[in-house]
Amino acid sequence: MEAAVAASSLRRMYERRRKDAVVALDDLTLTIAQNEIHGLLGPNGAGKTTLVKILSTVLLPTSGTARVLGHDVVAETKAVRSLVGLVLGGDRGLYDRLTARRNLLFWGALYKLDSRTVRRRADALLERVGLAERADDPVERFSRGMRQRLHLARGLLHEPRVLFLDEPTSGLDPVAAVAFRRLVLELRDEGRTFLLATHDMDEATALCDRVSLIDRGRLLLTDDTSNVGRILGDRECVDFVHEDDALARDLATLPSVLDVERLDDRWRAHTADREGSRRVLAWLVERDVLTGRHAQPTLEEVYLRTVGDRGMRV
Ligand SMILES: Nc1ncnc2c1ncn2[C@@H]1O[C@H](COP(=O)(O)OP(=O)(O)O)[C@@H](O)[C@H]1O
Ligand SMILES: [Mg+2]
Repeated sequence: MEAAVAASSLRRMYERRRKDAVVALDDLTLTIAQNEIHGLLGPNGAGKTTLVKILSTVLLPTSGTARVLGHDVVAETKAVRSLVGLVLGGDRGLYDRLTARRNLLFWGALYKLDSRTVRRRADALLERVGLAERADDPVERFSRGMRQRLHLARGLLHEPRVLFLDEPTSGLDPVAAVAFRRLVLELRDEGRTFLLATHDMDEATALCDRVSLIDRGRLLLTDDTSNVGRILGDRECVDFVHEDDALARDLATLPSVLDVERLDDRWRAHTADREGSRRVLAWLVERDVLTGRHAQPTLEEVYLRTVGDRGMRV
């Protein structure tokens, strides 16, 4: 079966005035199977939005190619647009003064759907995302969660087979986030494919079959979510500078410390959680070591530390 998404050596630069260009995507190759929920996980600035925009034909790659269900995102934009839906997080793309239904009718017109079809689909989708009773309220009265569900309805109007969701639950309260995720799972059961960009590991773990980790525009790995979840469990540490190896050895015996490693110019104590990091900082201060600071290892560091270079092969 044809891949839902096949990106090959994608690269995207952003030129910046009087500064070096940013490499937002660097030689990224990724395949997503049909009917999969694929997580794109990475910190802010990793390149997630850039990738999602390229795949939905909003942005051109600097080089490399990408296909959606066999259609090239640069040469066949029209075909790709009819196959994909883009759902952005936050407040972009909805008109506050318009009612929920009017928002959908507006977007339906942009998609050049005939008005009877749009009306029928809009009503069905409002029902589906739990907004039927609020269909005639202006969107400015909507909570964050309601807006996000309306965004999803909007992305579904032209019945796309592949959906790109960019940080869809950022800023949602936990109940709203759970409702949103349930909807995604239902839509997948109908045969749709999802690429879900998020910096939230819990979200990726809750929803995705497979996950790709990206950092600074580069793909670090693609793996089943269960493997990646285990790898990323260890995400807390305290960095400090000190001359004495004995202190590091003492620190390693504390119950809240998983281990202490030597980096180029400092020590790093890995802890199980935030409380563990607090204990380490307090312990250091008691010994007059004032250089300690709470840190988060980059995804790449966590990954390399845990599985070495085995998994760098994607
Ligand atoms: N329009 C732009 N102009 C210049 N740099 C940009 C632009 N959009 C994104 N970038 C840069 O590209 C990199 C990737 O950004 P982005 O794709 O938004 O990452 P993410 O969605 O993972 O946070 C970042 O370094 C960001 O600052
Ligand atoms: Mg983003």
